[in-house]
Amino acid sequence: MKTPLITIPPEALGSSFLRSPVLFRHRFGEHPLFSEEGLVGLIDSHPESLTDLNINRFDAEGRLVKLITGDRNGLGGADLINAVGRGELWVNLRHVNETHPGVAALMAEMQAALEALDARFKGARLDANLLISAPGAKVPYHADQPEVMLCHIRGAKRIWIYPNGGRHLPDEHFERVVLKEITEDIPYDRSFDADAAVFDLEAGHGVAWPSNAPHRVENLGTVNISLSIEYMTWRNRLRLGAYYLNGLLRRVGLPQKPVADLKPLGLAARWALAQPLKRLGLHKGRQMLFKREFELVRDAAEDVRQNA
Ligand SMILES: [Fe+2]
Repeated sequence: MKTPLITIPPEALGSSFLRSPVLFRHRFGEHPLFSEEGLVGLIDSHPESLTDLNINRFDAEGRLVKLITGDRNGLGGADLINAVGRGELWVNLRHVNETHPGVAALMAEMQAALEALDARFKGARLDANLLISAPGAKVPYHADQPEVMLCHIRGAKRIWIYPNGGRHLPDEHFERVVLKEITEDIPYDRSFDADAAVFDLEAGHGVAWPSNAPHRVENLGTVNISLSIEYMTWRNRLRLGAYYLNGLLRRVGLPQKPVADLKPLGLAARWALAQPLKRLGLHKGRQMLFKREFELVRDAAEDVRQNA
């Protein structure tokens, strides 16, 4: 019998699945696409417009103070991996499943495996982002709108996952994310760490968490390769609809019950009301544009560095 692409502990499945963070195993790292040669090929053929180069700068309290974005500047996969190995870069190849048939086939296999484990994954439409990050790179505290699972392929990293409500995810702040007024970063305080589930991820580990749960990541001294897989479930659609509606109501002076306290029927009602309002487009979000502030360059010694 073929070994499954993912193995989720049986005790984590069932009605409690994704009600709390869960560690699982996967076999993506065995695929030639993610060998050294495979990665170079993936990067070489990935469009520059879908390749993000980020450097995050933090204060002493671990809060993001600056996100600097850069340009790949036409450099190929081998050069990019070289630069990641010596710098502080966090590289994201967005939507690799859309540009690489091999990754699309793996996502189809993953989708089938997840559907076999839990019917809520039917039609979840997995979207893959390939993350290649430097030994000292960190991702700040943030919450994503889609559901996310992180499949770690190479290196070592630590992830903190926090509760998806209360002071860890203030409604008025995440409403602004859903209304596209701000990006996904939300207020962080070191004291939150006492409430986090913490996982040290090695090759073959995957971790999934409840909808919109805030998280942050620190690499542990090695180049890291991971697949961040985003998807939508109905539970998440309902939550995002409720945040959207609550955000609009708050703007006319009608603050609502926090999303974490809503029962499924309350979430569904808010989602249903949010749909026509979204279509009307009364609330204009801001378009988030990041000016690229550095580019990768090859120096006289043929080393690739960032020029900022
Ligand atoms: Fe994230």
